[in-house]
Amino acid sequence: MNALETIKKYGQEQLLRFESELTDEQKNKLYSQIESLDFDLLKNIEEKPALNKGVISPLKAMELIEINVYREELKNIGLDAIRNGKVGAVMLAGGMGTRLGSDNPKGMYNVGITRKLYIFQCLINNLFDVVHESGSYIPLFIMTSDLNYESTTEFFEDKDYFGYPKDYVHFFKQEMAPACDYNGKVFLEAKDKVAVSPNGNGGWFLSMMRTGMLEKVKDYGIEWLNIFAVDNVCQRICDPAFIGATIKKDKTVGAKVVRKATPDERVGTICLEDGKPSIIEYYELTDEMAEERDERGERVYNFGVILNYLFRVDELEEIVKKSLPYHVVEKKIPYIDENGNFVKPESPNGYKFEQLVLDMIHLAASCLPYEVEREREFAPIKNKTGIDSVESARELLKLNGVEL
Ligand code: UTP
Repeated sequence: MNALETIKKYGQEQLLRFESELTDEQKNKLYSQIESLDFDLLKNIEEKPALNKGVISPLKAMELIEINVYREELKNIGLDAIRNGKVGAVMLAGGMGTRLGSDNPKGMYNVGITRKLYIFQCLINNLFDVVHESGSYIPLFIMTSDLNYESTTEFFEDKDYFGYPKDYVHFFKQEMAPACDYNGKVFLEAKDKVAVSPNGNGGWFLSMMRTGMLEKVKDYGIEWLNIFAVDNVCQRICDPAFIGATIKKDKTVGAKVVRKATPDERVGTICLEDGKPSIIEYYELTDEMAEERDERGERVYNFGVILNYLFRVDELEEIVKKSLPYHVVEKKIPYIDENGNFVKPESPNGYKFEQLVLDMIHLAASCLPYEVEREREFAPIKNKTGIDSVESARELLKLNGVEL
């Protein structure tokens, strides 16, 4: 379908509002961008497929009490896998970090106080811990978006990869999706450019395939990929005991989880959905479910995911053949108005479309929820202050002996 047919089919005539002011070159640029985008996504505003859940039941986690008994054995299994080159790491750094409100990629944020300590640097330092423990470098794949690829790669170059051998670091770009107003009309970001945003973190493996990263994974002989969010500065990456536990329990996926701070904490809860592993969002957990207890008196929906998963590569190749639902998320979307003025909204003004990693869990054959101590491993930076902020992450970094 060409651009004009697409516009007609999806009722997006506003995208050509400034057509008469454009040069031929600009027009062609706009048309080819329109042709490259998936406008079918807009139907998710009405259909909300991501909210259609099956029957939810509890999924038991491997708890710290058990992990601590077997820790040495699990660690050795994981270290063996790392030393045999079977493990790679994937950093999800394609997000816009709008809540943090910095124009730079989130990883460039300085969390130091008396010295510079960037989020990317914290993560590389954490990766170095396991490199030192295992004596092997771990290949690191970094997902960026069209919007932050240049700044991210330049930053790593500039900082000499924080000491990590550059040959082991591979950047790739994720896909983009159109962003629209509350009536489903896609915004223009400039007179010759449709407003787009990264399409969520759920497309990471497909993007790895499209950008040739899967070949690299295979060349390295990697069998397990540990994916993690850029914004958790206490993230333990390629944690040997976690890898060992997933292998020993013969699961195809491992999911790091923390005991929830409160039953209604805003984290996804690991569970079973129609008998298969799944994650439900905090707003899908009813009050009764949040309070349901087992024979020990423990809450059964008590473990929240922290966006640190271990996937078996052969299963990922099957998972990507199935489609993930799109979530419709309200966000602040910069745009140009009818008069061509650029507007940077202060509050959410429309929808973005995102696929999420957590939906991949439901496509996996099995999953081991693996408990970790939140004070040691969970310091997400979403906001500048308050909950999940630079402030709270600094406190946890200090608690873990990181000099700020
Ligand atoms: P968040 O859901 O916190 O989104 O991402 P965000 O874009 O970073 O921040 P806000 O919501 O705009 O404030 C969780 C993780 O997923 C990555 C982020 O970089 C972060 O590591 N992510 C998110 C992507 O890699 N791509 C995306 O399209 C979205």
